[in-house]
Amino acid sequence: MKAKSLLSSLVLVGQALHSNALDAPFTVSDRWILDAQGSNFTYAGANWPGAGEVMIPEGMQYASIASTVSKLKDLGMNVIRLTFPIELVDDILDNGGDVTVQDSLINALGTSNGTSVFNQIQTVNPQITADTTRLQVYDMVAAECNEQGIYVHLDNHISKAMWCCSNSDGNAWFGDEFFDVEKWIRGLEYMADHAKSWPAAVSIGLRNELREPSTANADYPYDWPTWYAQMTAAAKRANAANPDLLIFLSGLNYDTTLSPIPTGEDLGDGTTFNLSDFDFATKLVLELHNYDSSASSCDSLSSSLWNGGFNALDTSDASIINVMPVVLTEFGFEQDDSTWQSVYASCLRSWIPEQHAGWITWVIAGSYYIRSGAQDLDETWGMLDHTWSNWRSPDAIEQGLQVMVDASLS
Ligand SMILES: *[C@@H]1O[C@H](CO)[C@@H](O)[C@H](O)[C@H]1NC(C)=O
Ligand SMILES: *[C@@H]1O[C@H](CO)[C@@H](O)[C@H](O)[C@H]1NC(C)=O
Ligand SMILES: *[C@@H]1O[C@H](CO)[C@@H](O)[C@H](O)[C@H]1NC(C)=O
Repeated sequence: MKAKSLLSSLVLVGQALHSNALDAPFTVSDRWILDAQGSNFTYAGANWPGAGEVMIPEGMQYASIASTVSKLKDLGMNVIRLTFPIELVDDILDNGGDVTVQDSLINALGTSNGTSVFNQIQTVNPQITADTTRLQVYDMVAAECNEQGIYVHLDNHISKAMWCCSNSDGNAWFGDEFFDVEKWIRGLEYMADHAKSWPAAVSIGLRNELREPSTANADYPYDWPTWYAQMTAAAKRANAANPDLLIFLSGLNYDTTLSPIPTGEDLGDGTTFNLSDFDFATKLVLELHNYDSSASSCDSLSSSLWNGGFNALDTSDASIINVMPVVLTEFGFEQDDSTWQSVYASCLRSWIPEQHAGWITWVIAGSYYIRSGAQDLDETWGMLDHTWSNWRSPDAIEQGLQVMVDASLS
């Protein structure tokens, strides 16, 4: 009896000392995201891409999963946006099951380079073996995030795995060449359901950067009524598949505008977005992207962000019908000695935390397995250097991003 109570005391002490505990699931209360304790939670993190042709999170040949997660943890970040392509799920459900990492690398990089990158991966991440499949690598990343107390936001980045995004890449809009609507929703359901096995998973973004397709499809005109019909259908099914996850709704024109949503305006055919129409309204979040790197003043940049959808945060304006949290899930710039001091970077660094809005920067990756046909491509916007070892620009991190994390989470 005594031994047992001593043991349980030790367990309790251990839990109290464990600073990495995650408080999922999250909910929404008007403009705030709340953790499972009911405390405000502000997303402050980085994108970790996985939607390229290899269809696993980048960087496995250079850094252990634990090392990359700890880089974010060291900055005090609390979330990763983990991107995936629908093609990953199509392969699992239609094409004979998930593909091994080794085969996927060979498919994407060719036999010689695919094999040598796989050998590097096995050296750096020995838990990835010849039998390991792509989704199992996602599982490993999610498990490490759980271990280190970093939340996972899943993001459907694209349908056909490749570098995103352009108007002519066949992934731009519902019904585009590779953007099969039913497979998209099925893929979201599959990943939302799968994420039940990830304690760190808190949210899913339905689609990255919707945009006008260069070839129109009469069944899916590029407009807000089509957006509304498809996004609400997908949101309902993702929510049914995993009712715990927050669902992030992205906008038009590369996710730079959600302007008719906060104000509940007529979307063009008499439809309006009204939170009361959703029985999972406490799970809905808006997301925007911004790459307006030529911004000449913070006033103009911030007013365009505000009018583009951040005004959903406004609880004091009666014209804002749908008060919701808004997260800037992409913004980024060259990680060199000076760009972090630009109007664009400085403005976002102060303005987003002032709004108590969440954010996720593009990008942790120092390189890509393959991007737009180029293998081992250097990512000059990467927080990490080419080999995922050190900060690419220590100033941009220590005087830039670290300041933004602190401002958001203080
Ligand atoms: C969230 O933060 C806001 C602004 O600081 C505050 O007014 C609100 O009470 C907080 N909510 C909770 C649940 O702590
Ligand atoms: C939103 O829907 C609710 C419930 O149907 C309704 O009472 C309310 O008037 C609607 N709001 C707007 C702005 O249309
Ligand atoms: C294979 O890798 C080598 C060395 O990294 C590189 O120079 C070459 O371009 C790669 N092959 C292809 C087809 O990209």
